[in-house]
Amino acid sequence: MDGSPRLLDELRSLPDLDRLIAAIGARNMTPGWIKREKPILWHEMRSEFVPAHWRYAEAKAAMQAAGRLIGTDLAERRNFVMRNPIPGNDMATLRTLVCAYQSIMPGEKARSHRHAPHALRVILESKGSYSTVQGEKTPMESGDIVLTPGWHWHGHGHDGSEQAYWFDGLDVPLTHLLEPMFYEEHPEGWEKVDTVTEKSPMRFAWADTLGALEQARADNAGHFGATIELPAPTMPTITLKVHKWPTGWKNRAYRHVANTVYVVMQGSGTSRIGDANFDWRFGDTIAAPAWLRIEHQASADTVMFSMSDENMMKWAHYYRIEALA
Ligand SMILES: [Fe+2]
Repeated sequence: MDGSPRLLDELRSLPDLDRLIAAIGARNMTPGWIKREKPILWHEMRSEFVPAHWRYAEAKAAMQAAGRLIGTDLAERRNFVMRNPIPGNDMATLRTLVCAYQSIMPGEKARSHRHAPHALRVILESKGSYSTVQGEKTPMESGDIVLTPGWHWHGHGHDGSEQAYWFDGLDVPLTHLLEPMFYEEHPEGWEKVDTVTEKSPMRFAWADTLGALEQARADNAGHFGATIELPAPTMPTITLKVHKWPTGWKNRAYRHVANTVYVVMQGSGTSRIGDANFDWRFGDTIAAPAWLRIEHQASADTVMFSMSDENMMKWAHYYRIEALA
C-alpha cells in the first residue's frame, strides 16, 4: 500500500461495494453509511450514568473504622470514592466528575502534591484542620468550601482534637476523557508555608456563604431557588453554586445539559432525579446525570451545594434547559 499510480487506479476501479469497504477498511477507514453498533448521532442525550445517593452518616461511620484500621503510611489521603453504580465503573460519579468523602485524624498531615485535575472540598465537620494551597495556609472549618485548582500544590493537616470530615469533588473523569493527566509529589514532601490567612480566593468561609445567600435571588423560572455562584476562574471545568431552600420550598421540575452533584450543607428534604427518589439530610451526596428530570423539596431550611459542568457545557454551546410539567 504505497499510493503508487497503479494502486490508485486499482482503487478507483474497484468493481463492487464489498471490495470497496474491504479496501478502505484495510486503510483504517470506515464508511459513514454503515450501520454501527453505537451510532454516531442520536436524537437526544441519554447519560450512561444513573442517579445515585450516598449517605454521609454511613460514610462517616466507615471513615471512623478506616481511622482505626488504616494509618497514613498506607492511605495518606483516607477517602472513599463515590462510584456511580453502573457496570464496569469503579471511579466516576458522573461523566465528568468524581466525588469522595475524606477524613483526617488529629495530628495527621497529608503531603503536598499537584495534579492537572481541578479539585474542591466542602468541609462537613472540622475544627482545626487546614489546607496549604500554593504556599498559602488557610483554615478548613465546618461549612467552608476550599479550592485546589489544577497544578496548584496542595496538602493538608489537622491541629484540632476531633477527627475531621469533608467532601472532595474533582474533574478527574473529564481529565481521563481528554487525556491531559499530569501528577507529581512535592520534592520536599510538605510544601513550605509562605502566608497564613483566613481570607483567600481559595476559601469560601461558611459565614460569608450564608451572608451572600441572604442577598441571593431566586431564578424567575423557579427551578433553582435562591442561588449564588462561587467564583472559581482558575478551574473553569467545575461550576460551583450554593442554594438556599426554605422549609416547604419546592422547585418547578426541569432538565438541563449539566451533570450535577449535590451536597447537603444544612437541612433535609427529598429529590426526584429521573425516576429515582432520594431522601437526604446533612452531608449526603446526590448525583444527577444531565438531562434527567430534577425535582427538589426541602423539609427543613436547607443550604445545598452543587458542583456541575454547566459552565463548560455553556462554553461549548451544548447547554440547554427545559421546564417539565
Ligand atoms: Fe490532590
